[in-house]
Amino acid sequence: MEERLIYNLVDLEQFAKALLAKLNSKQLLLISGPLGVGKTQLVQFLLNELNVPKNQISSPTFSLHHTYDSKQLHKDTTIHHLDLYRLLNEEEFESTGLWDLFLEPTSTPVKGESPRESLIIIEWAEKLPTHFWPKNWNQIKIIMSFFNDSGTEIRKLQIE
Ligand SMILES: Nc1ncnc2c1ncn2[C@@H]1O[C@H](COP(=O)(O)OP(=O)(O)OP(=O)(O)O)[C@@H](O)[C@H]1O
Ligand SMILES: [Mg+2]
Repeated sequence: MEERLIYNLVDLEQFAKALLAKLNSKQLLLISGPLGVGKTQLVQFLLNELNVPKNQISSPTFSLHHTYDSKQLHKDTTIHHLDLYRLLNEEEFESTGLWDLFLEPTSTPVKGESPRESLIIIEWAEKLPTHFWPKNWNQIKIIMSFFNDSGTEIRKLQIE
């Protein structure tokens, strides 16, 4: 496990840039941590780097699922951005059908085109037990937390 201390937004943006280099074509990014710790901010930095227009980015807190397209990471990447904050239980997750995303990572290619790749980013990933996560995906887990050092609020990222 890797640890990273974040003192400000610039640190977080730099972390996002470094993280991007580690992302693969069939990538699951699980982000957990308390309210306001910076999960959505981290996703926004990642999406900026992936050239997703700013006006398309919004917090999925109220809609559970957002989809973006990017040609930055691989030829054609579909980015799924999920926020499970409002999820009540596992049954509710099953009823959303979102686990469908895990079954078919790349959609059937249109004739003559290369297949699309998927990046799934999940905020509040701790809301679902680990057996839900697909085994055959590249998985990066980021656990964000706060701590206080003589009155200074610092964020800690644990990366697995
Ligand atoms: N490293 C940081 N330094 C300073 N401010 C930060 C940092 N990270 C995030 N923030 C700010 O904290 C606020 C909350 O961040 P954000 O919305 O990303 O949290 P969140 O973890 O997604 O919270 P929630 O679970 O409620 O959605 C934002 O205004 C954001 O810009
Ligand atoms: Mg958020």
